[in-house]
Amino acid sequence: MHIPDDSLILNLPDEAATLALGARLAHCLAPGMTVYLEGGLGAGKTTLVRGLLRALGFAGRVKSPTYTLVEPYTLSGFIVYHYDLYRMHDPREWEDAGFRDDVRDNTLRLVEWPEKGQGRLPPADLRISLEWAGDARRARIAALNEKGKACLDNSAR
Ligand SMILES: Nc1ncnc2c1ncn2[C@@H]1O[C@H](COP(=O)(O)OP(=O)(O)OP(=O)(O)O)[C@@H](O)[C@H]1O
Ligand SMILES: [Mg+2]
Repeated sequence: MHIPDDSLILNLPDEAATLALGARLAHCLAPGMTVYLEGGLGAGKTTLVRGLLRALGFAGRVKSPTYTLVEPYTLSGFIVYHYDLYRMHDPREWEDAGFRDDVRDNTLRLVEWPEKGQGRLPPADLRISLEWAGDARRARIAALNEKGKACLDNSAR
């Protein structure tokens, strides 16, 4: 369900702004949620995940899971699964890889290239679309259900 009134558009003038948006979202995202990260190659999706994980206390390296499709991060009390489905050829690969088992109450799922898994992924609470604005970026954040709406209302505005 798309609630257009709950879309938020933000200008992200530089990489630091994308990291800061990730950090802001870290405060409202909770285990059990799924976030779709849309936008073309190099739009800043992984950068946003990096900002989010750092704000959640992860001090190590956050690398793009382009070849492995997923990178798990174990934090205190829950696990963040960061997916990059760019190299998936068929949405069925989501199930073949066993990713359905990652969808649990104690996991937070962040999915780059969700369109590659269309029809197989868990529904998203938030959809974040990143697009170019000159050399900078613009983010459009949409709450897709009540949980997503609460997240936007509490922390991102
Ligand atoms: N707001 C911004 N303004 C300018 N550059 C940015 C901004 N946010 C991120 N970048 C830069 O964009 C580049 C690509 O970022 P990133 O790897 O996060 O993209 P991506 O969307 O994950 O790409 P892919 O689809 O290939 O995984 C990085 O060099 C990053 O520093
Ligand atoms: Mg990426």
